[in-house]
Amino acid sequence: MGEFAGKQSRGRILVTGGAGFIGSHTVVDLIENGFDPVIVDDFSNSDRGVVEGLAEICGRPVSCYEINCGDRARLQQVFESAGPIDGVIHFAASKAVGESQEKPLLYYRNNLGGLMNLLEVMAEFGTRDLVFSSSCTVYGQPASLPVTEKTPRAEPASVYGATKRICEDILTDLVASGAPHRVTLLRYFNPIGAHPSARIGELPLGDPQNLVPIILQSAAGLRGPIQIFGDDWSTRDGTCVRDYIHVLDLAAAHVRSLDWMAEQGEDPRVEVFNVGTGRGTSVDEALDAFERATGQPIAREVGPRRPGDIEQIYASCDKVERVLGWKATRTIDEAMRDAWRWQERLANR
Ligand code: UD1
Repeated sequence: MGEFAGKQSRGRILVTGGAGFIGSHTVVDLIENGFDPVIVDDFSNSDRGVVEGLAEICGRPVSCYEINCGDRARLQQVFESAGPIDGVIHFAASKAVGESQEKPLLYYRNNLGGLMNLLEVMAEFGTRDLVFSSSCTVYGQPASLPVTEKTPRAEPASVYGATKRICEDILTDLVASGAPHRVTLLRYFNPIGAHPSARIGELPLGDPQNLVPIILQSAAGLRGPIQIFGDDWSTRDGTCVRDYIHVLDLAAAHVRSLDWMAEQGEDPRVEVFNVGTGRGTSVDEALDAFERATGQPIAREVGPRRPGDIEQIYASCDKVERVLGWKATRTIDEAMRDAWRWQERLANR
């Protein structure tokens, strides 16, 4: 256990991908809960300005190493020089579905290689606890909703999805082999929003592919009307349904996972949790929420279905509530308001 700013830390936590969207919000929550985060990020899909934004929000500098998790020697150096690492949250991964189809080797190398390096270095330095970023993409289109953790995983629809599934399997096999790790697999639904200070948020490099960054650009006049990908799905209004979760709620699930693992005693284990709100929201409803929360009108057009899209998915959060005692507390309107604040700040930078 280290010390910072004169206060006793509850543990030093390595956060790979800590400058990214979910990673940066988790760093804030770690500090607010008395942990001492150490960021490892190669800035391939994040901005160096995030580290300054974090320092402003948290009122103290945050350690950050510019490293790709594929570089095992440099990861080892971080474990040596940052002091004892009490736990790891592993966000760093490539995440663009379309790109993963074009560059499968890159995705397998980054996502599988990064995890395996990290696990070997953790073993070398005696670090046991790991929280891993998985995705509801592992369920594909489930036969019944909401999805529980017992819902069978589907054949991956993309290389990106395959990497998440294989990483889950690597961790499960490792613990089954007798390795002393305590592992939490968090299957994220659709994270949106930003920190209410608007100092950190989602920064897609290049053309955004996800709904909320596209809404923000459309509302800001940086692109034309929103294309709704199909209104002939078998849902209540014909548009696809997702479980949108405020990124700060998702961040809190990571911090709670660390505490929970520490409470579980010494036995190695792997536990999987869905992290969503338990509520399904259609694309039309998400657009309504944005308009309601921000007062900004959104022009909509109905376009063709996007290949590979899932009709509807939302989480059962019974297990995560019961076992971790965690629950999403923020509404989609708050998430849209915070995302818009972030967009406005970006425009004024
Ligand atoms: C997508 C990925 C998923 C990944 C997640 C990461 C696919 C098929 N799935 O999920 O594997 O884990 O991003 O955040 O790419 N929409 C529109 N118009 C738009 C953009 C989106 O109607 O211009 C709709 C989509 O059809 C979907 C919803 O908005 O119903 C959300 O889309 P998106 O933000 O891309 O997330 P997912 O498709 O859920």
